Amino acid sequence: MFLGIDIGTSAVKAILMDAEGTAAARASAPLTVQSPNLGWSEQDPTTWWTAALAVCATLRRDAETAYGAIAAIGLSGQMHGAVCLDAALAPIRPAILWNDGRSGAECAEMAAALPGLAALAGVPPTPSFTAPKILWLKRREPESYARIAHILPPKDYVRLRLTGGLATDMADAAGTLWLDQAKRGWSETLCRVSATDPAWLPRLCEGTQLAGALTEAAAMALGLTAGLPVAAGGGDAAAGAVGIGAMNQGDAFISLGTSGQLFAAADSYRPNPAGMVHAFAHAVPDRWFQMAAMLNGARPLQWWSETTGVEIADLLAEVENDIGKDPGRAPLFLPYLTGERTPHNDAAIRGGFYGLENDTSRAEMTRAVIDAVAYSFCDARDALAGAGTRVTAPSAIGGGARSDLLLQTMADATGFVIRRRKDADAGPAYGAARLAAASTGAITLSELAQTPPLDRQFDPDPHKAAHHAERLARYRALYAALAPFAAG
Ligand code: XUL
Repeated sequence: MFLGIDIGTSAVKAILMDAEGTAAARASAPLTVQSPNLGWSEQDPTTWWTAALAVCATLRRDAETAYGAIAAIGLSGQMHGAVCLDAALAPIRPAILWNDGRSGAECAEMAAALPGLAALAGVPPTPSFTAPKILWLKRREPESYARIAHILPPKDYVRLRLTGGLATDMADAAGTLWLDQAKRGWSETLCRVSATDPAWLPRLCEGTQLAGALTEAAAMALGLTAGLPVAAGGGDAAAGAVGIGAMNQGDAFISLGTSGQLFAAADSYRPNPAGMVHAFAHAVPDRWFQMAAMLNGARPLQWWSETTGVEIADLLAEVENDIGKDPGRAPLFLPYLTGERTPHNDAAIRGGFYGLENDTSRAEMTRAVIDAVAYSFCDARDALAGAGTRVTAPSAIGGGARSDLLLQTMADATGFVIRRRKDADAGPAYGAARLAAASTGAITLSELAQTPPLDRQFDPDPHKAAHHAERLARYRALYAALAPFAAG
């Protein structure tokens, strides 16, 4: 049995599976995000550990025999966050997350100091990434900066609690803006332009490598055996890819979680920073990927559910039952609740509805939110095409992939044939468990590249193409018109 733990943004998720990929149990524990200032996004790293203990307790309760047979643990997690530790390995302050927008000025400073930065780091600087966050701390919180002895991506803080060691995988390292993507090693140049001492950074491992073993204390807390191997795992985008076998040139998928990605695996490093495409090292050896990364993914649907006080499933059913008026009159929604990365690199833009009428219904507003998620992936499709990668039939993973209506709308709007795989909503946790299996030799690299069985295929409806093309054009014009009004 292999245990995959994903340190997400809205929850820690875990899956227990055998070497064939069959899940024995799954568990999830919620997390909250703090925003003490406009555009800030933070979490206390100790809450990840508490939630990891909680999901393991649930798995142990629900599948005691399988839990007792765990042979290795794999980790996945939200990328780009900065966990700053002091010399005693204690967090100095809350972690600054991937969707935090505070470090725009520091990004401009880094780009000006190193014109070749994007070619080296795989993407131009944005406030999402780790390096500008450290420069921000130096400028704005010098007392925190002065205490930094180590910096970790989020999942690797949980690794520290599990193994006592400081290590990360290539894909999480790729999202820091300190990795030389082509060489798969820390770059002193990138460290220098972000006031980062390379000695603060963790040991680099390939995702399929063993990166430590369970300590006595962690084994006691988890009800497992000390010395159990812990694989390096992967940043969530790459671990999600491993979950559906997207490892070889052209394998592509859509991820619909709190964030959203259109991801295409590549067998070489192919940077193309125009259009905010990320060219990053994959979690598996000798592989890279190109990715359009959207800050809002399927989160707008969750936000709309919280705002209306209606479950997502009920909101979606309302849309399916709504015969409504002329669909062209439905409002438009901009999904930029936390700004946007691909394609706009705009931390200040925010979401909004446009085109509300006297008799606009909740179902029509839900429809606008669903369309907006789909249109953000039309932008992603075009960004990747601009970087030379034409995606046609991606798989879909993440919590948002549970919704048939959302996936059908995405197929209609993007023209993609979208394939949902079995256990698709387990996403990165599943990939982390597969990386754990590979780290022990229980599965080979070519088995890791196998795609899970098909659950359902969504073919684009040609009758909807013109409708969505017209709304997409207005959606894009709405962003262009509103961008100048964004604060900051
Ligand atoms: C990827 C990205 C997200 C975060 C949180 O670039 O920003 O995937 O890792 O899920």
